[in-house]
Amino acid sequence: MQNLAQTLTAQAVNASLADLLLTLADTSKAISQAVRHGALAGVLGATEQENVQGETQKKLDVITNDMLKDALKAAGNVRGIASEEEDYVVEADKDGEYLVCFDPLDGSSNIDINSLVGTIFSVLPAPQGELTEQSFLQKGRNQVAAGYVLYGPSTMMALTTGNGTQFYTLDPKTGEFLLTEEKVAITPDTGEFAINMSNQRFWEAPMQTYIADLVLGKIGPRERAFNMRWIAAMVGDVHRVLCRGGIFTYPTDNKNPNKPFKLRLMYEANPMALLVEQAGGKASTGYETILDIEPQEIHQRVAVILGSANEVDVCLSYHDQDY
Ligand code: AHG
Ligand code: MN
Ligand code: MN
Ligand code: MN
Repeated sequence: MQNLAQTLTAQAVNASLADLLLTLADTSKAISQAVRHGALAGVLGATEQENVQGETQKKLDVITNDMLKDALKAAGNVRGIASEEEDYVVEADKDGEYLVCFDPLDGSSNIDINSLVGTIFSVLPAPQGELTEQSFLQKGRNQVAAGYVLYGPSTMMALTTGNGTQFYTLDPKTGEFLLTEEKVAITPDTGEFAINMSNQRFWEAPMQTYIADLVLGKIGPRERAFNMRWIAAMVGDVHRVLCRGGIFTYPTDNKNPNKPFKLRLMYEANPMALLVEQAGGKASTGYETILDIEPQEIHQRVAVILGSANEVDVCLSYHDQDY
């Protein structure tokens, strides 16, 4: 089996980008260790701090953020960093060619119940000149690489450098990421959806109607049964979609009028959208293709609908109607 470095060479990925991806892979191995030690290492539970989005930070949110930040600052080819857990962009190397946006620990509400968590990352080209927030505000289409690492029963990485989406599995014996799926392909049709149903009463009319029709099953307009899954970690839900198809959504809601969306564009929606598109799926807000959004700020949030191409199209058709 090919390891990560060999696969990147075979794909003719630029050497500097390959180095950066190997740095991210190495750091994720260390994160995998920290996560695995759990209560034994005293890393569970919350801190007393909040991040810029008003969420109480878990200890592991802070630990994993520092691990990635330190590794990327030392890598030599990174110009700057944006993270869920950093209020502002962080300067790295003056001559660095890349910007890295990351969610160091996705699904952190799962930490204390020993359930699925992961790391999500997005790599953009660094523009010339001074590093500011503006340097990062590029469309998701500009990403030169995107991926996530899932700390599950096995540690897996999903990665794209624009040559399709690949899965790697961490070999616990050798500590190497080995290529276990060369061409991830999302089935265009599906009978499975993922949404936090407890927010139902807060959704807009198109999503209310779409989900209601799925739940009606055989007696509804879809004339077949749909199954539902929700892991509460986007990495886990998107991984399932990449493995066996499905539609995942965190739609617009009016629970809190100041916060109509939950997921973050730069380090959640964009990297997942690229992985999904590279695997033949689609990713939209309901009204706009995720990868074509012009970002306004690094912590911007968006509605996300992604997965099996035909099912995303069905969901989008509900957004075209008047209610
Ligand atoms: P994070 O832990 O990085 O803040 O992200 C959590 C996100 C995402 O992973 C998941 O899909 C969603 O929040 C779950 O939200 P609910 O708790 O509302 O189900
Ligand atoms: Mn968070
Ligand atoms: Mn997250
Ligand atoms: Mn997070």
